[in-house]
Amino acid sequence: MYSSMALLAGLTALPTLTLASPTLHKRLANGLALTPPMGWNSYNHYNCAPNQSIIHSNAEALVSLGLADLGYTYVTTDCGWTLPHRTADNKLTWNETLFPAGFPALGQYIHDLGLGFGVYSDGGILMCMNTELGTNQTGSLGYETTDAETFASWGADLLKYDNCWSSQERSFPNVDYEPLTSPHQNYVNMRNALDATGTNLLFQICDWGVDFPSAWAPDLGNTWRVTNDIIPNWRTIFRIVNQVVPQTDYAAPGRWLDLDMMEIGNDIFTHAEEQTHFALWSILKSPLTIGCALNDSITSVFAESLAIMKNENIIGFNQDALGVSANLTRRYSDEGYDIWSGPLSGNRTVAALVNWNNFSIDATFDLPDAGLQSAGWVRDAWTNETRKNVMTSYKASVEAHGTLLLELDDTIPAGVYQLDGQSGDINLENVYALTTSDAYTVTIHFSSPVPSSCDLGIHNQHQRSSHQVQQGQSSITLPVSLIAGNSNTLSISNTNSISSITVTEPTGKFYPNTAFAISGSGNASHITCVPGLCSPLGTKIGDLSPNNSASLNIPASATTTGSRYVELTYINNDVAIGTSWGEGRNARNITISVNNQTTRLEVPLSGRSSELYSSMKGWGDSAVLGVLVDGWKQGDNEVVIGNIGGEKGVQPLGADFVGLKVF
Ligand SMILES: *[C@@H]1O[C@H](CO)[C@@H](O)[C@H](O)[C@H]1NC(C)=O
Ligand SMILES: *[C@@H]1O[C@H](CO)[C@@H](O)[C@H](O)[C@H]1NC(C)=O
Ligand SMILES: *[C@@H]1O[C@H](CO)[C@@H](O)[C@H](O)[C@H]1NC(C)=O
Ligand SMILES: *[C@@H]1O[C@H](CO)[C@@H](O)[C@H](O)[C@H]1NC(C)=O
Ligand SMILES: *[C@@H]1O[C@H](CO)[C@@H](O)[C@H](O)[C@H]1NC(C)=O
Ligand SMILES: *[C@@H]1O[C@H](CO)[C@@H](O)[C@H](O)[C@H]1NC(C)=O
Ligand SMILES: *[C@@H]1O[C@H](CO)[C@@H](O)[C@H](O)[C@H]1NC(C)=O
Ligand SMILES: *[C@@H]1O[C@H](CO)[C@@H](O)[C@H](O)[C@H]1NC(C)=O
Ligand SMILES: *[C@@H]1O[C@H](CO)[C@@H](O)[C@H](O)[C@H]1NC(C)=O
Ligand SMILES: *[C@@H]1O[C@H](CO)[C@@H](O)[C@H](O)[C@H]1NC(C)=O
Ligand SMILES: *[C@@H]1O[C@H](CO)[C@@H](O)[C@H](O)[C@H]1NC(C)=O
Ligand SMILES: *[C@@H]1O[C@H](CO)[C@@H](O)[C@H](O)[C@H]1NC(C)=O
Repeated sequence: MYSSMALLAGLTALPTLTLASPTLHKRLANGLALTPPMGWNSYNHYNCAPNQSIIHSNAEALVSLGLADLGYTYVTTDCGWTLPHRTADNKLTWNETLFPAGFPALGQYIHDLGLGFGVYSDGGILMCMNTELGTNQTGSLGYETTDAETFASWGADLLKYDNCWSSQERSFPNVDYEPLTSPHQNYVNMRNALDATGTNLLFQICDWGVDFPSAWAPDLGNTWRVTNDIIPNWRTIFRIVNQVVPQTDYAAPGRWLDLDMMEIGNDIFTHAEEQTHFALWSILKSPLTIGCALNDSITSVFAESLAIMKNENIIGFNQDALGVSANLTRRYSDEGYDIWSGPLSGNRTVAALVNWNNFSIDATFDLPDAGLQSAGWVRDAWTNETRKNVMTSYKASVEAHGTLLLELDDTIPAGVYQLDGQSGDINLENVYALTTSDAYTVTIHFSSPVPSSCDLGIHNQHQRSSHQVQQGQSSITLPVSLIAGNSNTLSISNTNSISSITVTEPTGKFYPNTAFAISGSGNASHITCVPGLCSPLGTKIGDLSPNNSASLNIPASATTTGSRYVELTYINNDVAIGTSWGEGRNARNITISVNNQTTRLEVPLSGRSSELYSSMKGWGDSAVLGVLVDGWKQGDNEVVIGNIGGEKGVQPLGADFVGLKVF
């Protein structure tokens, strides 16, 4: 399916986010985590205060609740298990009050349940601990070989390796989001130490996304955290996924982007929010690490939360053999929802419509937003409702903060309509168009070469024309005019049998930022980038404040009035790491006003290089996102890029602007 889509990509302007091609890196190939690892970790619920009975009862619950059978098999004891100091022979050991039987016995207990034993350490002088707990616990910095040997001797199957107290140049603060040197070397050291033990452990890198680990972590670990910690608040989901957007292609069998442990079951989110959390973690191929109390002396998991985490359709998306992450394909900021989609094995597609609004919506998911025109069958992953022969659009009500999650099979690529040998007068209704344009073409594919020359008529709301088909022709391509949306009709009269028709979008015209004139009272300016960056131009407009704008007149014809699809090439690397506990969103708004009708797009990050050490700190890495923009009229159109209303947002500055392609 996606190979044929790639071929079609030249024909149809697929509405997808495109980014610079990834550089090749050496990859760790230890045979582990061929699908994203699944399990349970103590931190989200018990913080840095685990103990033996907690680990025992939750591990047992993984089995008794049927979670282990579904793949949740790693049990990891996070921070808080060890002591302030090493033993006399410089080893790490457990707190005997908390773990009276000891860690080797804990590992045995977990193994006896048929589960994997996960341990935790840290690449700094101390492990992460809540300062209010008043205790420090020694970390692995400088003791990597000893600690790797210890973990191996205890039979550990997984090591989560954290990043507190690791910044030597700044005298080892608890956390440092802008260290003078990358944490990378600490992970190299532990990787080498693990290799030297001869024991194969699943290695989870947890440096909170500092120094863009997707560029170096796949070489060292099976998973790596992409963002700062998940927090117990709904806004955390939007922040995390906005950081993942530009780096989804780094995920592959054996190496996965870790979106952090789940908060499902911790009584923080509504049911719909928990569904969204699970859906996104699943289709972005994050490790699925349960972070709630499944069972202890005071808590047992809510049935509703358990059902979400046990949904086999959705676990299946995460564990799919193809191992390709979904992408953000459309963002409807004014309407408040996103479309994410990606391929599954067996030519299936998964698509999610995420309703960020705090009210329910009657949503229309246009299949072309996932690169498809139709699907032989579509299953709602939550309800299991199946619809057959879905053409172009799927309508459903989506709860506040909820997600419509669909599996699509027997699909046809966007722009292709199967006619299976029809002839005579053919009326196609609900023909989809991404934009309003007279530069569409329709290619009519005949079932076999035409036996003799004949006439072919084509008409719709806008036009009527007649064409000669020559003897022996197997297809004919004709111009058509379509309006954005789903209300076009296309009538074809002809005597030959037609196998399919292909509707091809216009190629669009690109307007560079350099053509836009800046005005207003802010600091916006044209910026020349480091050579090779700010693709495809090497320049951008930066520092667009709400009082700035960048404008250009773009002419339009009578047949292109109304709504037109545009693709914005933007740059945003406003990484919300220090602000991740607050309102940080990993996003910036940008507004596109056409004759004073304004459309807002809240773009995610585009950076694909280090936010600390790369030549433009990720502010030279461009990305493309499309949006439908209303207000076009015949003649000159005043097109203004800005950040109208930005003073009401979290970040008053708009995304940097590279260029605009108008279709
Ligand atoms: C273990 O943690 C549980 C839950 O927080 C608590 O009730 C119990 O007292 C703890 N046990 C020990 C030995 O600290
Ligand atoms: C939860 O723990 C209690 C006490 O150990 C046990 O009786 C019960 O079976 C456990 N429930 C589950 C679902 O594991
Ligand atoms: C072991 O953990 C207990 C409970 O948190 C704590 O009171 C005690 O100080 C710890 N022991 C050591 C040696 O740190
Ligand atoms: C923990 O370590 C930090 C850094 O060395 C130090 O500032 C702090 O006083 C220590 N706290 C305790 C309770 O030992
Ligand atoms: C839908 O099917 C999946 C997979 O069999 C199952 O896990 C889930 O509980 C089902 N949901 C409903 C509402 O029946
Ligand atoms: C997602 O985007 C990345 C970067 O452009 C691309 O390499 C990858 O093929 C896309 N994946 C899908 C499923 O479209
Ligand atoms: C997927 O589609 C391709 C191209 O249409 C086809 O060759 C292949 O057999 C299909 N694979 C499966 C598993 O259906
Ligand atoms: C939705 O959000 C708005 C703005 O934050 C708030 O005023 C309103 O109370 C929220 N409504 C619900 C149902 O949560
Ligand atoms: C413009 O830049 C100056 C100096 O950095 C800063 O103080 C000011 O707030 C900026 N103005 C806007 C509108 O961003
Ligand atoms: C932006 O414009 C508003 C309204 O004209 C004005 O009150 C404000 O001071 C301006 N801000 C800057 C940074 O120029
Ligand atoms: C947009 O609004 C501004 C301010 O009201 C006005 O000066 C300008 O002429 C308008 N532009 C168009 C194309 O209507
Ligand atoms: C983008 O605009 C919306 C609507 O005004 C606002 O809620 C949001 O905070 C803004 N985002 C940022 C990053 O400022």
